[in-house]
Parts: sequence; structure tokens; C-alpha cells
Amino acid sequence: MTAGVLLAVGEEALARQIEGLAQRSGAMVVTDRVAAPDALLRAVMAPGVDVVVLDGAFAGGGALEVARELTSLVPEIGLVLAAADRGDGLLAAALHAGFRGVVGVPVTARDLTAAVVAAASWAQTVRPRLAAPGGVDGRRGLGATLALAGAKGGTGTTTLAVHLGLAVAAASPSRSVCVVDLDLPAGDLRGLLGLPDLRSLGDLLDGPLTPERIDDGLALHPSGLRALVLPGDPDRAERAGPELVRAVLGHLRTRFDAVVADLGRGTTAVAQVAAEVADRVAVVVTPDVPAVRGANRLVARWGARGVRAGPVVAVLNRATRDGDVQPAFLSQALSAPLLGAAIPADTRALATAANTGVTDHVPPGPWRQAVARLAGDLELLPQQRRTRAPRRPLPADDPVPTEAQTRA
Ligand SMILES: Nc1ncnc2c1ncn2[C@@H]1O[C@H](COP(=O)(O)OP(=O)(O)OP(=O)(O)O)[C@@H](O)[C@H]1O
Ligand SMILES: [Mg+2]
Repeated sequence: MTAGVLLAVGEEALARQIEGLAQRSGAMVVTDRVAAPDALLRAVMAPGVDVVVLDGAFAGGGALEVARELTSLVPEIGLVLAAADRGDGLLAAALHAGFRGVVGVPVTARDLTAAVVAAASWAQTVRPRLAAPGGVDGRRGLGATLALAGAKGGTGTTTLAVHLGLAVAAASPSRSVCVVDLDLPAGDLRGLLGLPDLRSLGDLLDGPLTPERIDDGLALHPSGLRALVLPGDPDRAERAGPELVRAVLGHLRTRFDAVVADLGRGTTAVAQVAAEVADRVAVVVTPDVPAVRGANRLVARWGARGVRAGPVVAVLNRATRDGDVQPAFLSQALSAPLLGAAIPADTRALATAANTGVTDHVPPGPWRQAVARLAGDLELLPQQRRTRAPRRPLPADDPVPTEAQTRA
């Protein structure tokens, strides 16, 4: 077993020393090195991290505090503290903060290897248990997180977020799914799901953010889908800041097999954070030129702000066989690759669902099959999870799936 080690070490000389020892040990590989808590919270989500080695001086001496946060966000990662002081008081505090081992500074090869190997084997033992399906109620999944943003208003972002969630749940009833409304100014996920105004993101605004409070803030839809919806008052919803949202999404991915976030138009600071931390990001377009312009604007904006290092894909909703704008044109005009699984326009099925509360009212058939295919393309289904390679754009002559084709 080779342990993937993330170094959270502020002090340059110590970082270099640990990196050298790790390299020579043959038992571990350093996946990344970060010097600040923000960067740590991002890097720890990357695949291949088994252990985080924190030095006592990290975050201005707040290593224990950082450890507590990591333990709640990514409980499946083993933590090792490198500290000059190894007195009983510190050992007890480290244990309580969630560290699995403590090594003295200066670090020796033997101590480091022993602590990292023990923490990594603990992490690799508990990970499958935490990944058991079921969502909240004690069982957890390491969820693929998808962020969906609309190229312009009304492209069907919320509709797709909900139905992708339902499609994942339907494909495998043991899979836990959570849909999150991050369209703070205008989101209406609660209305679309027909959920009462009992639990919401509003519950997480005041007081310390604990895993229990996040779980308690989730609403349960009769389909089994969990949802983090917005409070009725948009002003209150907009009090949720980027750091709260980052922590909430980090927690939810440890709880669910799949997390789907609706970013609305994708332009708020909160939406940007979600686009940054998600495994996959898709812009929902409709077959019209304003949607193309909107999608390209959003992708350029995220690019300019360094929001997204990974790929952003485009998803076509409301596809029709005979419209002016067809996928061949979209593939060329969009700056993001267009996924093959387009969602056909089906006003009748969708209107009934939107007006009455969602699940039972979109009948099984071509529309739902198309959404299930899209869930596969977006890597929300088990066999395709965690492969992060960008998809190729459609060849120019790929047709839009028509109702007849999707009925297969
Ligand atoms: N494939 C589709 N076929 C027919 N109607 C659709 C389709 N997708 C969405 N709709 C309808 O389009 C309308 C807008 O959908 P939705 O609210 O999901 O869009 P949105 O992008 O979230 O909008 P907003 O910008 O207001 O958040 C709804 O009435 C919905 O039922
Ligand atoms: Mg919406």
C-alpha cells in the first residue's frame, strides 16, 4: 500500500524535509502541498489523498482547529500532526481534534513512516464503510458532486437538477442523492419538489456549522431524495456566504453518493465556490443563440476569475428535431464541449410535474430515459464515477435525439 499524503505545512524547511523523507520511504507519495487553510480544504477533496500531515504551526498555530474542521468535512482521511512539543497535553488535545498520529519535529523517517502508514491503513479501512449507501442516518457516501448552471434564465436548470437526482435514485435505489439549491436570489427547488417550509439553508446561518446541523437542515422528499432548499425569504437566503457553502458541500459529499447543486445563473460568489469544488460542472443551454452567448459568457467569466481548473461541459435541454439551432451548430458555437445526451422538449409532461409536485407526474418514457442517459454522461451513476476526463465534443453531424429515438 502506498499512502497518498497531502502536506499542510507552512514552514518551508520542514515541508521540504518531510517531502524528502516521504519520497525516500517508498511507502508514501506526496499528492500536494498547501500552506493555507483555504487551499487545504480544496486540496483534501482531490482523489488519492489518504493522509494529511499538518504541522503544529499551520494556520498560525490553529492546526487543532483545522483538524476538527477536516474531521467533520472529510472523516475518511487520516490526520498526522508534526509538532515540536510532544507533551501529554498536546497529545490529548491532538487526539480529541481527530489526529491519528503525532510525530516530533525534527521529523525522523521512522516516525513519519510509522504514523503515515497507520493513518493511511485506518483511512483505507473506514472509507468503504463511510461510502456505504444510505445518505444521512449514520451511513455515508463519497459523492460525485455536479454543479449545474443556466446559460440564461429559464433553460431548465432546476428541472434538470431535480430530475437528474431522481434518475440517480431510480437507477439504483440504494444510492443516496442530495439536491442543493444554490440559486440564492431566485431558487425555487422547494416549490418544484413540493416540500414544506420546515428545513432549509436558513437553519445553517446562525451558530456553529456542525455536521449534525447540516443533516438536520435537509428536507426529505417522498422519493427518498434529500434536498437542501432555500428559506422563503430571499434576503435571508443571500446571507449564506461562499465559505458556508463550501463547508456544506464538503460535508454533503461525505454523506451522499451523488450531490447535484443548482447554481441558477452561476454568477454569484456562492455559485462560483460551488463550481470550484464540484467534480463536474455543466452549463444548461437551450437550442437558441442567446443561450449560446450566455453559456460562453459564463464559461469565460469563470475562466477569467480562475474559478474552474477542470472542464465545464454544456448540456442541451429542450432539444427539438426541427428547430433552427441544432447540435452541430451548438458544438461549434459553444466554448464548452456539448454532451451527447440531449434532453428533448416535452412541455406536456413537464408542465404537469412542475404544477403539481414532481416525481409521480413525469411518466416513465423517453423524457426520463434521456435524463437517465444524461446522468450517466455526467458520471452520476456508479460505474462512471470519479473519472474526470473531459468528454469529447459531439461530431458536427450528430443529430439531436428525437422523441422517437429516445423511446428505444
Ligand atoms: N425539456 C423540457 N421540456 C419542456 N419544458 C421544460 C423542459 N425543461 C424545463 N422545462 C420547463 O421550463 C420552465 C423553466 O424551467 P426551470 O425552472 O427548471 O428553469 P431554470 O433554468 O431553473 O429557470 P430560472 O432561471 O428561473 O431558475 C419550467 O416551466 C419547466 O417545466
Ligand atoms: Mg431555476
